[in-house]
Amino acid sequence: MQGKGVNERTLVLVKPDAIQRGLVGQIIQRFERKGLKLAGMKMMSLDDVVLREHYSHIADKPFFGGVAEFMKSSPVVVMCWEGLEVVDAVRRVTGITKAREAEAGSIRGDFAMSVACNVIHASDTVDNAADELKRFFETGELFSYDKSEYMHVYVEDERA
Ligand code: PPS
Repeated sequence: MQGKGVNERTLVLVKPDAIQRGLVGQIIQRFERKGLKLAGMKMMSLDDVVLREHYSHIADKPFFGGVAEFMKSSPVVVMCWEGLEVVDAVRRVTGITKAREAEAGSIRGDFAMSVACNVIHASDTVDNAADELKRFFETGELFSYDKSEYMHVYVEDERA
């Protein structure tokens, strides 16, 4: 599921606060206007099994229970975005976890105030992106296709 070069992929989860606040379209637009390719997208409800796996690195934190309840409070939208060094690029567009301190212009900086209600989750490393894409998508739910605008998003040696 993970590719190299312009085919690198990352996972974005649009969290319940963004669903409730009607921000899905604006979030998609942020990544589209950056020049990223949408490789997959669906809405789903998360359960305790997937949340315990996805948030295993915070399982011993006092706020884990609250995060899990929040993530189950409405469906989420999961997306796979593709591009050159896309894991890092998406993290920069996302902004830091504590949204009220996130840089203006980032998604969290522009749309959120909380560490938990911070609009989206984005994979933090290429290895974690590969694991998270497998966690949330079946192989047939991700799509490979040519994007004609790539010749205006990247120069030739970046596309190679
Ligand atoms: S990150 O963005 O994954 O690097 O952030 P991290 O600091 O590792 O935090 C992991 C997720 O835990 C949530 N979080 C919190 N929730 C409630 N209270 C506190 N204090 C808190 N700190 C972190 C945060 O929203 C992260 O969710 P994701 O989905 O990874 O963004």
